[in-house]
Amino acid sequence: MSVFSFTSPIRRVSQVPAAIQGETAWLRPLGPDEADPLHAVFDAMSPESRYARYLQAVPELTPSMTRTLTAVDGTDHVAWLASIGDRPVGIGRYFKVGPCSAEIAFEVADEFHGLGLGAALLDTVTTVAAVSGIRELQALVLGSNHRSQRLLSLVGLELAPQGGGVLEADGPFHLLEQPRVERPMVVRLALVAPQPVAA
Ligand SMILES: CC(C)(COP(=O)(O)OP(=O)(O)OC[C@H]1O[C@@H](n2cnc3c(N)ncnc32)[C@H](O)[C@@H]1OP(=O)(O)O)[C@@H](O)C(=O)NCCC(=O)NCCS
Repeated sequence: MSVFSFTSPIRRVSQVPAAIQGETAWLRPLGPDEADPLHAVFDAMSPESRYARYLQAVPELTPSMTRTLTAVDGTDHVAWLASIGDRPVGIGRYFKVGPCSAEIAFEVADEFHGLGLGAALLDTVTTVAAVSGIRELQALVLGSNHRSQRLLSLVGLELAPQGGGVLEADGPFHLLEQPRVERPMVVRLALVAPQPVAA
C-alpha cells in the first residue's frame, strides 16, 4: 500500500495548481500501483456516477480492476490525480489504443461535480496526450451524461450513437481554448517517469 502526503511542501513542488470554483486543486501524475487515491475517489462516487464512468454497475473495485487502473507507465497509460487539501477528488486518464490514438476517461467525487475539476483534468490529460504524439481520442459516454458530453465537446470531440444508450467519440482533438492548468508545468511533470509515491 502506498503512503503519501498531499499537503507536504515537497509534494507541492511536483504538483500543478488548478483554480476551480472557490478552491485550488492540485494535480500530479498518479504513481504506479498507487491504489489509495483511486479507491478514495471511487468511494466518493455514487452508484450512478460509477455507472456513468464504467458503463455498468460497479459496486466495488475488484483487485483486478485496481491493478489495471493503477498500472500507469507515463506512456501507454497515463493517469493524473486531482486533490483538494489532502483529499483525492478526481482522476483523468488515457490508455493508448494505437500509435497515435488513446481512450480517455474521467471520474470526480460527486460532491465536487460542476466546479471545474473535470475541465482541469481534461486540459491536463489532453496536454500530455498532445505532446506525446497522440492525435486522436476515443471516449464512451452514456447518452444521458450531458456534463461529460459538454466536456468532450470543449476539445472538439464529436459523439455518435454506438448502441445501447452509449455515445462514442473517436477522432481528432484540440486543446481547450481556455487553459485550465499551467500547461508547461504539466508537460515538465509528465516528462518525469512515474515514480512510486514515497512517504
Ligand atoms: C463527467 C465528470 C468527470 C465531469 O467532472 P466535473 O468536475 O463535474 O466537470 P466540470 O465542472 O469541469 O465541467 C463540467 C461543466 O463545465 C462546463 N464547462 C467547463 N468549461 C467550459 C467552457 N470553457 N465553456 C463552456 N462550458 C464549460 C462543462 O460544459 C460542464 O457544464 P455543466 O456544469 O453545466 O454540466 C464528472 O461529472 C464525473 O465524474 N461523472 C461521473 C463519471 C463520468 O461520467 N465520467 C465520464 C465518462 S468516462
